[in-house]
Amino acid sequence: MKKDAKRATKLIHAGSHPENHSGIINPPVYRASTVNYNTVKNMKRLRQNPNDNFVYGRLGTPTSKAFEEAVASLEGADKTIAMGSGLAAISAAILSFVRAGDHILVCDNAYSPTRNLCDQFLDRFGVETTYYDPLLGNKIKDYFRENTKLIYTESPGSHTFEIQDIGSITEIAHKSGIKVVMDNTWGAGYFFRALDYNVDVSIQAATKYYVGHSDAMAGTVSMSGENIKPVTDMVGILGYNIAPDDAYLALRGMRTLNVRLKKHEKNALRIAEWLVGRDEVDKVLHPALESCPGHKFWKRDFSGSNGLFGLIFKTENANAINIFIDSLELFGLGGSWGGCESLVLPTNVTRTETSWKHNHNSIRFHVGLEDPDDLINDLKCAFELMNKSI
Ligand SMILES: Cc1ncc(COP(=O)(O)O)c(C=O)c1O
Repeated sequence: MKKDAKRATKLIHAGSHPENHSGIINPPVYRASTVNYNTVKNMKRLRQNPNDNFVYGRLGTPTSKAFEEAVASLEGADKTIAMGSGLAAISAAILSFVRAGDHILVCDNAYSPTRNLCDQFLDRFGVETTYYDPLLGNKIKDYFRENTKLIYTESPGSHTFEIQDIGSITEIAHKSGIKVVMDNTWGAGYFFRALDYNVDVSIQAATKYYVGHSDAMAGTVSMSGENIKPVTDMVGILGYNIAPDDAYLALRGMRTLNVRLKKHEKNALRIAEWLVGRDEVDKVLHPALESCPGHKFWKRDFSGSNGLFGLIFKTENANAINIFIDSLELFGLGGSWGGCESLVLPTNVTRTETSWKHNHNSIRFHVGLEDPDDLINDLKCAFELMNKSI
């Protein structure tokens, strides 16, 4: 495959090596711990370069390497390392660049287990976190300290959907020698290529759109140049790896990412626009709509949108909102998005630097691959039942 191949082509061919597997298209699921080296000479040779050879199950197999190759190709990275969950990828990426006495900046809309990592783990080991307003823009510089080593971003936030100017954050950060790590799960490395905006490490909760069928957990870190060594070393120290079946499923999911994402995008836009016209709705937080905070950065930097967006009701009646949620038949009540099915989830976020006043009257949708007419009918019925209850 040519290096400048288009995304759709990369998604089909990257990481595919039938020549290594008797011509069979997909890599086998290698279940491995021990690797036999045959001779001491060979053992020494392989172990000298454990990242490019197969030396131990935890350090990679042809199955995990195939998945990593596909992700690296999509993210435009020199190297991707896969592990068991998105949260593992988040912790590995942050831990790669900090030590006791350091200070980090984390966007206030970060995925809440990321906040737990900062407040309940990093804090214990002497790394201080300051949360910043994701709409702060260039003023992020005012938060820099002598010991600030890392900015952690997530854009859009996966519950409240603020979009940040990532290019300007990396520019300002790098002038002060600060690394930028981004949770790029919403953009999927498909609608947004974080490394093109000079992000140091792009994280995917591959559990979402890469796996794509709600049946496996996976996470990836992708990086280039000088960032490869510290992250590779840290993943090795932590002992993170990906299970063979999960690597297989994540790679298989990626083969259809292109068509799935486009359908998620189309369905979600249709539903978001329909919701905008409903009397019950105060605001739809969809990055592709002008009403979404930071929309201009989505418009400038992203090449599309996916199935995940938020909604704020006009009513503050929690019981009525629960009736709406419970009445939906096609939207399952659940958190882990990116599968084929539609989901709904009450929004419940923690904020310290900014305020979010809608924990009691907002929800998040993940619009799946069902027929959007059926989804709209389902929503219509739920609104009717909600209205009757008020
Ligand atoms: C934006 C985002 N990042 C990271 C994660 C964590 O991924 P995982 O559940 O694979 O640990 C999630 C999971 O919901 C998420 O939504």
